[in-house]
This record gives sequence, structure tokens and C-alpha cells, in this order.
Amino acid sequence: MNLVKQDFEAAAVARASAVSQNSKPSISVIGLGYVGAVSCACLANLGFRMTGVDVSLEKVRSVKEGRSPIVEDRLGDLLSEGVRLGRIDATQNLVAAVLATDVTFLSVGTPTAPDGSCDLTYVRQASRAIGQALAMKEGFHVVVLRCSVPPGTTLDCVAVEVAAASGKKMGVDFGVAFNPEFLREGVAVADFYAPPKTVVGASDARTEQIVAQIYGAVDQKIQFCSIPAAEMVKYVDNVWHATKVAFGNEIGRLCKSLDIDSHEVMNIFVTDTKLNLSPYYLKPGFAFGGSCLPKEVRAVAHLADALNVDLPLIQSLGVTNQRHIAEAARLIEQLGVKRVGFLGVTFKPATDDLRESPTLELMAMLEAKGATLSVYDPNLRFNDNLKGQIAYVRHACPSQANVMDNIEQICVADAAALTAGCDVVVVSHATDEFRAAIVSRRPGLPVIDLARLFKQLPESDESYQGIAW
Ligand SMILES: NC(=O)c1ccc[n+]([C@@H]2O[C@H](COP(=O)([O-])OP(=O)(O)OC[C@H]3O[C@@H](n4cnc5c(N)ncnc54)[C@H](O)[C@@H]3O)[C@@H](O)[C@H]2O)c1
Repeated sequence: MNLVKQDFEAAAVARASAVSQNSKPSISVIGLGYVGAVSCACLANLGFRMTGVDVSLEKVRSVKEGRSPIVEDRLGDLLSEGVRLGRIDATQNLVAAVLATDVTFLSVGTPTAPDGSCDLTYVRQASRAIGQALAMKEGFHVVVLRCSVPPGTTLDCVAVEVAAASGKKMGVDFGVAFNPEFLREGVAVADFYAPPKTVVGASDARTEQIVAQIYGAVDQKIQFCSIPAAEMVKYVDNVWHATKVAFGNEIGRLCKSLDIDSHEVMNIFVTDTKLNLSPYYLKPGFAFGGSCLPKEVRAVAHLADALNVDLPLIQSLGVTNQRHIAEAARLIEQLGVKRVGFLGVTFKPATDDLRESPTLELMAMLEAKGATLSVYDPNLRFNDNLKGQIAYVRHACPSQANVMDNIEQICVADAAALTAGCDVVVVSHATDEFRAAIVSRRPGLPVIDLARLFKQLPESDESYQGIAW
């Protein structure tokens, strides 16, 4: 990109005067669509000096004249106020805008590419242009990516392009951050001032502090995390929202076929904030099991089939659960060892219930491939209740019959005896007793953790692996 000298000089003058008038960082926003236009208007309303940039002359004119380029409640009023107060300008000249500001928000489109991947063409182009501007700029500059992108994009694409085009160093001359956008179209302005959360992943402390300063007025509880985690948060949110919509609609189709009012059902469902709408069941761990979930999922899937109602999401739950168990088997098998010891075999801690425990299924898979199994579970009781459960499992899961028949013989007295007699230890329950057994195991004994024993993962311990972390 060719930059005329006047652009640079004009920008430098504008910036110097702005900084002297206002201690808040000035912000350029690249991309004046649904995300960028709202950022421009709302941040101007908080007192920031904003420069909007778009390749579309129509959008630039609209923002420059204080008119909303999109249909969005209150946006036109905020833009016209920002322009009237001299806090909002707009231009097609990205380089001049970057030169005139301290921070650049990047909110260009990231559409779906023909192969289904995320098309980063606009992100890459804009990052390169930001770098070209930074080559001419003195002082630290912050680039904040606000687009929804695959994890890795901020560091491997934006930062790399900016560094290559500017010849400058991340963390020294410029910082990058990922700050996902969670606003809902239609109520985006209201959401801006009362965000569901504010998440920031930054390349360095200085950048983190600058981005935190920008959002300080609307959120005092900013959640800081690594850049890839912040990128992933945005994808996870949207996949979750889509999952909820698809789930609600499947329940609706099933209810309709049964002549039940789906809203009557779901109105009750959503009142349960202890188990239904809560963090419960959402942290990655091992497969679901027990005497209820697998049985009920099978029954609902069967009911839908009988009624000729197509419920692909619910029908797939058993499949994805089985894949998770198969993944555990793969992790263990790739160690190439024979004696596999299990800490915990009941379907969850603090119960003696073995029915449809996913650990039993895993044990059956490994036994079928020649593994020698051993188990320690402080809650197992060899009594009539267990005999009843063995009968249940033989009926519900015939593949596990052999393991169930031999469960008493393969049980050892305590955790120390288990870890002493196996080549890999598989932990199914996150209990203090099992944590202690893992910490004190003999050096190098491989661990496959199905339960997330430790909040902080053991550092540089190659013998430890989690199933989904
Ligand atoms: N729309 C939403 O509610 C929403 C919510 C959260 C996240 N996001 C994400 O935010 C990003 C932007 O979404 P959007 O809905 O605002 O997109 P949009 O298509 O409405 O706006 C993008 C703008 O970027 C402009 N642009 C493209 N390349 C440019 C360049 N090199 N220089 C200047 N301008 C350029 C386009 O002309 C367009 O006006 C996407 O990654 C999207 O997934 C959107």
C-alpha cells in the first residue's frame, strides 16, 4: 500500500492533539459492520475518540454523518451524538486511521470458505495494512481482534502479518489481543453496556492493561485468559447456543407428536437452574453412565423412532458417548502395556452403583484386546445388591458380562496395591484418595485421567494424560 507523506503527517498531528485532550487511548475500528459500528458508537459514548474504517464508501459516509449503516436499536442516536461531539470520524484510509490512533479493533467479516473452513482473507489483508501503518508509527500500538476465528488466528495470522509488514516486534513495539464479541443483534447497544461477560486474551501485560482500561466502565470483572482460550470461548459459546436451539426444537417435535405442549414442558425445564441451566454436566470428563441417562436416552430415541419423528441430535448421544469411551481405550492402548489398573469403577464417585458404568465398558474393550485388569474402588460392596447389578449389566450391556463376573477377583485392597501392580493407572473418579495415590505413585507410571483430578495440570509430566484436556 502506498502512503502519501501528508497522510502520515496529518495523522501524527491529529494524534498528538487528541492525546493531549484526552488521556483515554484513541481507537480505530476496521470494519463498520454489525460489530464495528456498535463498537464505534458505544465507545465514543464512553468518551473514546473513534475512527471507523471500511472499504465500503457507503458505510464510511453513513458513520461519518452520524447515521447507522445497519438496522440496530439506538445505534443511529449514538452515532449522531458521537459525530456531533467530535468523537467519531470515519475513513476508507486504514493506514491513516491506524497512524492516528493508539489501539486498532479489527472487526472485518470472517465468512465460510467453500471448503467449510473460516475464510481469513479479510483478516489477513487488514492485518497486513495495519503492519504497513505501524512501520511508520512511533510508540506502542495495540491490535485487538474481535472477529470470530479459529484458535491460533490472532498469534499465527494477525500478529505474524503485522510483524512482517511493520518489521516490528510483538510485545515490544506492538501488542495483540483477542477480545470476542458477544452482543446480540437487535439489542447490541443494550448488551454493550451490560455484557454477558468480557473476555480478553493478550500477548503481554501492557496490552492486557490497555484493553482492560477500555472496558473498565462497562465491566469490572474482565476474564483474562490465554489468546487461544479466548478464541475458543467464542466458538464454544456459539456451538452451545446452536446446540440449545436444536435440542429445544427436537423436544418440540417430539412433544408435538405426543400432543404435549412443548412450551409447558420447557417452561418447567428452564426453572431448574441447579441441574438443567447450570455448569453441572458441562465440564469435560468421562462418558455418561449410570442407571438413568443411557436408559432414558435409549427410550426417548426409541419413542421418536416409533412415532416417526426424526431427532438426529438426541439419536446421536449414545454414539458420541461410545466414541468417548473408545478414545479412552485408544489412549491406553497406544501405551503398549498389558496390566491396566483402574482407580474407581462405579459409574461415579460416592456410590456403589455399577449399572452402565462407562468404566466397565472401557474395561470390557481392553480385556477383549488382551489387557489384564485390576480395580480398586472403596465403594464396591460384594453383597446381594451387587449380584442384582451384575444381573442388570448382563442384560443391558452383554459386552460387559465377563468383566462383571470377575469383578471380585480383580479387585485389590487399596490404591497403593493397585498402582504397584499395573503398567498404567486409569482414574475414573476425582477423589482426594485417588489424587494422593497419583501424586505418590512410582515415578514414570503412566496415568490416564478420565476425571480431571487436578485443576492445574501437572507441569512437564509426560507420564500423565487427560482424556479431554
Ligand atoms: N454480527 C454479529 O452479531 C457478530 C457477533 C459476534 C461476532 N461477530 C464476528 O465479528 C466479525 C464481523 O462481523 P460483522 O457481522 O460485523 O460483519 P459485517 O460483514 O457486517 O462487517 C464487516 C465489515 O468489514 C468490512 N471490511 C472487510 N475488509 C475490510 C478491510 N480490509 N478494511 C476495512 N473494512 C473491511 C466490510 O466492508 C464490512 O462492512 C465476524 O468475524 C463475525 O463472525 C459478529
